[in-house]
Amino acid sequence: MRIPTNIVALSLPALGGSISIPQLEFPSLGKKSAASTTIAPIPSPEPIEIYRVPPPPATSNTSENGCTTTLNPHGTGCISITTSGNVMGSGSFLPDGVHVTAYVTFVGAPAAPDPATIYTGTQLIILKTDGNLFPNGDSWKCITCGVSAANSVGSTALTPYPQAFKDGSRVMVGTNIVDCGAHQLASEDCTPDEVHIYPIRWSNTANDSNTGAGGSIRELRLAPDQVHISFNAYIYSGTQLNEIGFTPRLKFNATGTDGTNPRYELTNVNLLFNPNNKGIIAANGNHAVNTSGISMGELRGWASQGEELTYIGYPVESCNIDAFAISLDTGAVRRLTEHPEYVDPIDFSPDGRWQIIMDTRGTGRQMFLAGLRTIPPIIDMLVTGAVSSVRNNGARRFFQPWLLDQYGDRGLYFGQQINSEGDGLPGSVNDPNWNSGADPRWSPDGTRIVYYQMLASSPACGGSIPLPCETSTEPYGQGIRIIVANLTSRTPIDPPSVPGIPDVIPWAIQYTPGMTIPSVQSLAAGSYVLQGRASGSAAVTITYDASGSYIQTINVTYYDLCDNGVNTVMGFESVSVTPYNATASLYNWYSNITSTGAHGSGTKVTTPGGFHLTIDYMTNLFYAEGNLTTTIDGVSYYQPLNFA
Ligand SMILES: *[C@@H]1O[C@H](CO)[C@@H](O)[C@H](O)[C@H]1NC(C)=O
Ligand SMILES: *[C@@H]1O[C@H](CO)[C@@H](O)[C@H](O)[C@H]1NC(C)=O
Ligand SMILES: *[C@@H]1O[C@H](CO)[C@@H](O)[C@H](O)[C@H]1NC(C)=O
Ligand SMILES: *[C@@H]1O[C@H](CO)[C@@H](O)[C@H](O)[C@H]1NC(C)=O
Ligand SMILES: *[C@@H]1O[C@H](CO)[C@@H](O)[C@H](O)[C@H]1NC(C)=O
Ligand SMILES: *[C@@H]1O[C@H](CO)[C@@H](O)[C@H](O)[C@H]1NC(C)=O
Ligand SMILES: *[C@@H]1O[C@H](CO)[C@@H](O)[C@H](O)[C@H]1NC(C)=O
Ligand SMILES: *[C@@H]1O[C@H](CO)[C@@H](O)[C@H](O)[C@H]1NC(C)=O
Ligand SMILES: *[C@@H]1O[C@H](CO)[C@@H](O)[C@H](O)[C@H]1NC(C)=O
Repeated sequence: MRIPTNIVALSLPALGGSISIPQLEFPSLGKKSAASTTIAPIPSPEPIEIYRVPPPPATSNTSENGCTTTLNPHGTGCISITTSGNVMGSGSFLPDGVHVTAYVTFVGAPAAPDPATIYTGTQLIILKTDGNLFPNGDSWKCITCGVSAANSVGSTALTPYPQAFKDGSRVMVGTNIVDCGAHQLASEDCTPDEVHIYPIRWSNTANDSNTGAGGSIRELRLAPDQVHISFNAYIYSGTQLNEIGFTPRLKFNATGTDGTNPRYELTNVNLLFNPNNKGIIAANGNHAVNTSGISMGELRGWASQGEELTYIGYPVESCNIDAFAISLDTGAVRRLTEHPEYVDPIDFSPDGRWQIIMDTRGTGRQMFLAGLRTIPPIIDMLVTGAVSSVRNNGARRFFQPWLLDQYGDRGLYFGQQINSEGDGLPGSVNDPNWNSGADPRWSPDGTRIVYYQMLASSPACGGSIPLPCETSTEPYGQGIRIIVANLTSRTPIDPPSVPGIPDVIPWAIQYTPGMTIPSVQSLAAGSYVLQGRASGSAAVTITYDASGSYIQTINVTYYDLCDNGVNTVMGFESVSVTPYNATASLYNWYSNITSTGAHGSGTKVTTPGGFHLTIDYMTNLFYAEGNLTTTIDGVSYYQPLNFA
C-alpha cells in the first residue's frame, strides 16, 4: 500500500513534528527568499530523449510452470503483469550509471528441484539501460533470487525504493540492505550464495533488549554520505495519527543477538522536532494568530548534497501541498515548490544543482482546491489530510516527472515536464493514463533520470467511469514501464565528493528508545485575528467538539487581507469536521472567497448548500456532495467526479 504522505492528526495543526525557522519568516508568497531570486536566472527548457528499459518477460499465469520456456528460454523466471507500484517499480542507478535497480514479483516458477524454482516472489533485480545483455542473454539479473534463509535472517519484503550504495555492492530496499560483499552486484561473481539480506532495526522501546523486529519504519532514504538515512514513523497518540521524521546513522552489527542474525542498527537517531516551535499556526498574544512557524510532514529524503533534508510541509498557501528543504545545520527552511498542484517524490541531482519531482501539476487535479493563491493556510488545520488525499483516485496517481533547478518554483518558473513530448496516444511517453511512481532518480553523472509509470486500471477507469481503460502497448502487456530520460545537452559530471553529515542535528531532539514523542499543541478555542503581512486582516473562530478533544470548526472572514503586497483576499470560509476514525472524516465546507492581484484574480466558492467531502487518507476515494469551484481569470477548475 502506498500511504498518503501528508498525515494530519484530526485535531492538530501540525503534521506531526514541527521545526522552527530562525532565519526565514513565512516564505513570501510567489517569491523565494530574495537571495535565491537574485542568484538564479530561470533555466531554459532543454532537449530530453526518453527511452524504455527492456523489461523481464512477464506472464499473467501465476500457476506452477506458468512461466513457460517459450516466454523465457533462459529459465530465469517471469514477473507478474501488474499496474500496481506495490508489486513493481524502479529504484536508482548503480554507480556505473548503466544498471538500475527494481523490485518485481516473479510468478509461474516450476516446482523444486528445477533450478528455476528460485524465481518466485518479490525480489530485487538490476536492469541494463544501455541495450547490452548479461552473459546469459538476459537484460536483467535477479540479485536476491535463491538467497538462503541463513543469509537473510530477519529480513522483510524487498520493496519499495531500492537505492544503490556508491560501493556498487549494496542496495537498501524496504527496510533491508542487500549486500554482495566483495562483489559488484552486476558482476558474474555476485551469485545468490554471496548475497546477504540484512534487516534494518530501530530500537524504539526502553526494554526491548535489542531483540524482536524493533519499531516500524517507512520511507527510508539513503543519505549522500552513505552512512546516514532518513525515515518516517507513524506515531499514534490516542486516536490521532501523526507522521514523524528521523535521521539516524546506520551501524552494521555482524553478530546480531546470537551470532546468527547480523543486521543494521540505527544509532544517533535525531527526532526531527523542535520543542520550541509551536507549529505554523500559533496563538500570538491573547487573540492574534501567527503563521510564522514551520511544520514538517513526511520526510522525503536529502537535498543539495546532504546539507538539507526534504519534506512535505504544512501549506504556506491554503490547500497547496509543497516540498520544502531544511538545513541540518541551521534549521533554515526553503520552500522548493509553489505550484498549486500536489508534489511529493523528489530527488536532488548528485551535484545538488537540480531536482526531479513527481507532481500533479498540469493535470488539474488539485486546482479546484488550491488554484486561487495567497489565501492563508487557516482551514488547513482541518483539511490538509483531506486535500492531500484528493491527489489520487484510489490506486491511480496523477504524477508526472518535472525537472526543476535547485531553487525550485519561482515567479512564472514551474520547471519542465520531462516527458511532455509525444502525441498523447495510448502508450506514448506523454500518455496521461500512464502515471508515475516514487521515486525518480538521477544517474551518478547527472545526465539521466530513471522513473517508472503505471497504467491507470479499473476501477479508476472503465465501467461507469467516462474514461475507458486502455490496453497496454508495452511488451507482454505489462502495466508498469521503466523509463530513462536522457538530458542530451548535458555534460556528464564526475561523481562529486560530498560533505559528511553530522550525527547530531543541533535543532532536533536526540532520540532515546522509548521516549515520549512530543506533539504540537492545537490552537485553543476562541476568536483570533490574523494580521495580513502587508495589510488587512482575517477574523478566525476556532470551535472544539463537545468533549473538547479536537478542533471541529474553523470559520475565517477575510477583510482585504494582503500578505505579499499584491493579492488581496476577501470573503468567508468555514469548515467543520466529523471524524469517522483516525484516517477518514466528513468535511462540511463553505467557501466564498475573492482574491485579486498579480497571482490571478478569481473566486473560490461552494454551491449554496456547501461542499461535503468524505475521504480516507488510506484509500483516497473522493466522494463529495455539493461543489467547490475555483475560477481564476475566467477559467474554472472543478472537483473530480466521485469515485464510482
Ligand atoms: C498456466 O500454466 C500452466 C502450466 O504451464 C498450464 O497448464 C495452464 O494451462 C496455464 N493456464 C493458462 C490459463 O494459460
Ligand atoms: C516493555 O515496556 C512496554 C511499555 O512500557 C510494556 O508494554 C511491555 O510489556 C514491556 N515489555 C517487556 C518485555 O517487558
Ligand atoms: C550486536 O548486537 C548485540 C545484541 O544487541 C550486542 O550485544 C552487541 O554488542 C552488538 N555488537 C555491536 C558490534 O554493536
Ligand atoms: C511568530 O512566530 C515566529 C516563529 O515562532 C516568531 O519568530 C515571531 O516572533 C512571531 N511573530 C510575532 C509577531 O509574534
Ligand atoms: C544521451 O544522449 C547523448 C547525446 O545524444 C548521447 O551521446 C548519449 O549516448 C546518450 N546516453 C545514453 C545512455 O543513451
Ligand atoms: C461558522 O460558520 C458556520 C457557517 O456559516 C455557522 O453556521 C457557524 O455558526 C459559524 N460558527 C461560528 C462560531 O461563528
Ligand atoms: C474509516 O472510516 C471510513 C469511512 O467510513 C471507512 O471506509 C474505513 O474503512 C474506516 N477505517 C477503519 C480503519 O476503520
Ligand atoms: C459571496 O460573497 C459575495 C460578496 O460578499 C456576496 O455578494 C454573495 O452573496 C456571497 N455568496 C454566497 C453564496 O454567500
Ligand atoms: C456540481 O457540479 C456538477 C458537475 O458540474 C453539476 O452537475 C451539479 O449540478 C453541481 N451541483 C450543484 C449542487 O450545483
